[in-house]
Amino acid sequence: MAQATSSCRICGGVLTECLDFGTQPVSNAFLRPEHIGNEKYFHLAVGICGTCAMVQQLEEVPREDMFGFDYPYRSCMSAWMRKHFQQTAQALIETELAGADPFIVEIGSNDGIMLDTVSQAGIRHLGVDPSGGPAAVAQDKGVGILVDYFEESSARAIRAKHGPADVIFSANTISHIAYIDSILRGVDALLADNGVFVVEDRYLGDVVEHNYFDQIYDEHFYLFAVHSVGELVSRFGFELIEAERIPVHGGAMRYTIARSGRRKVSQAVRDFVAKESAMGLDHPAVYEHFRAEIKSIRVALVDLLTDLRAQGKSIVGYGATSKSATVTNYCGIDRDLVPYICDSTPVKQGRVTPGSHIPIVPPEQFSGPYPDYALLFAWNHADEIMAKERRFRETGGKWILYVPNVHII
Ligand code: SAH
Ligand code: TMP
Ligand code: ZN
Repeated sequence: MAQATSSCRICGGVLTECLDFGTQPVSNAFLRPEHIGNEKYFHLAVGICGTCAMVQQLEEVPREDMFGFDYPYRSCMSAWMRKHFQQTAQALIETELAGADPFIVEIGSNDGIMLDTVSQAGIRHLGVDPSGGPAAVAQDKGVGILVDYFEESSARAIRAKHGPADVIFSANTISHIAYIDSILRGVDALLADNGVFVVEDRYLGDVVEHNYFDQIYDEHFYLFAVHSVGELVSRFGFELIEAERIPVHGGAMRYTIARSGRRKVSQAVRDFVAKESAMGLDHPAVYEHFRAEIKSIRVALVDLLTDLRAQGKSIVGYGATSKSATVTNYCGIDRDLVPYICDSTPVKQGRVTPGSHIPIVPPEQFSGPYPDYALLFAWNHADEIMAKERRFRETGGKWILYVPNVHII
C-alpha cells in the first residue's frame, strides 16, 4: 500500500509514496572496471503530492554526483533527436526570435544539439550547462556555452551581462533539477516581459500508460504532466499557455510558459488537464496498476533471459542508456545474462554500467558475429537503431523489448 512519507519540494504538501525501486546507483555513472566497488547509491522511490499533484522522488541525489565534466550523455548520438531539435530551433527562429536582436538561453544545452541551428542563423544565444565534457563539444561547433548550473544567481548574472531573453528553452533538463523553485525564480529574473519559457520533457501520461518504468532514475526527479506543470509555474507568476505532444523518447510534451496574463491560454491546455484528471494521473490510485505491471515485467524479462541462456542462446544489450540502470539493477540483470551492451557513445565504451557492471562496447562488435537476441535498452530510438541494424534481423536475429510488456520482434 502507498504510504505518506515526506513533503513536496514545490509546495510542502504531503507526498504519498507510489513506487519503490530500492537501492539504485547514479544512473550515468558509467565506470572504469578498476573502479568497481567505489560507487554511489541512493534509494529510488517516487511519490505524488496531495496538494499540487507533482510526481517526484523521495530522495535527492546531490547534483555534483550526477553532473560535471565526465557526464557521458551526448544528445547528438541520435539522428532523430538532431532532426527534432533542428525543427524546434527553426520554429523558434521564425516566431519568438523574429524581432530585432533576439536573445535565447538554453538550460541544459549538452553538446549543442539545439543551439547549433540558432548559432548558425547568427542569433544571440547562450547555453548553460554544468557538464564540461558535452559543453566542449558544443563550443567546438561555435555554440556559446556558460559551464555552470542554471539557478537564480546565474540567471541574474546572465541578465546583467546580456539583457533579457526572448526565449528560455529547456529540454529534458528542468525535471532533473530538484531545486526547481530556484530555476523558476531565475526564469523570472531573466525572461523578457513578453518572452516565453519553452520546456520539453517526457510525459507522465505515457510513462504510466505504457509502463515506461525505466524512465524513473535519479536524474528524472520530477515526472511532468500538464496539470502539475501548470500548477507549478502559477506559483511563480507564470501561466502555462500551450501544451503540445512531441514524438520523442516514447512520448513527450512541449510546454510553453509566459508571464501571467500576457498571452492567451490555448484550449489544448484545458483539454489535457481534463484528460489527465479522467485518467486519474493526479491520484495515487493510478500507480497501483502501474506498480503491478512493473513487477510482472521484471519477472517476465528475467524468466525470458534465463530461459534463453539455458537454451544456449546468445544475448547482448543495445544502448547503454541511463534508463538501463533502473532495468538492470531493479531486475537483477548482470553480465551472466547480458555479457555486454553495444553503444555508439565513445566515452561510454570501455566502461561498465553502474551497479550491474555490464561492459559497454562499440556497436561494431554487434555484428561480429551477431547474437541470437538483442535486448533493446534504447527502445525510444527503436526505429533508428533497427533501421541501422537491419541486417541483424535479416540474418535471423531477434530484438527483445520490455515495454509496454516483454515481447520479441
Ligand atoms: N537538452 C539535451 C540534454 C538533456 S541531458 C537533450 O534534450 O538531449 C540534461 C542536461 O542538463 C545535461 O547536459 C546536464 O549537464 C544538464 N544540467 C543539469 N543540471 C543543470 C542545471 N541546473 N542547469 C543547466 N543544465 C543542467
Ligand atoms: P537515451 O535513450 O537516453 O537517449 O540514450 C540512448 C543511448 O543509446 C545513448 O547512450 C546512445 C545510444 N545509441 C546507440 O548506441 N546507437 C544509436 O543509433 C542511438 C540512436 C543511440
Ligand atoms: Zn506539492
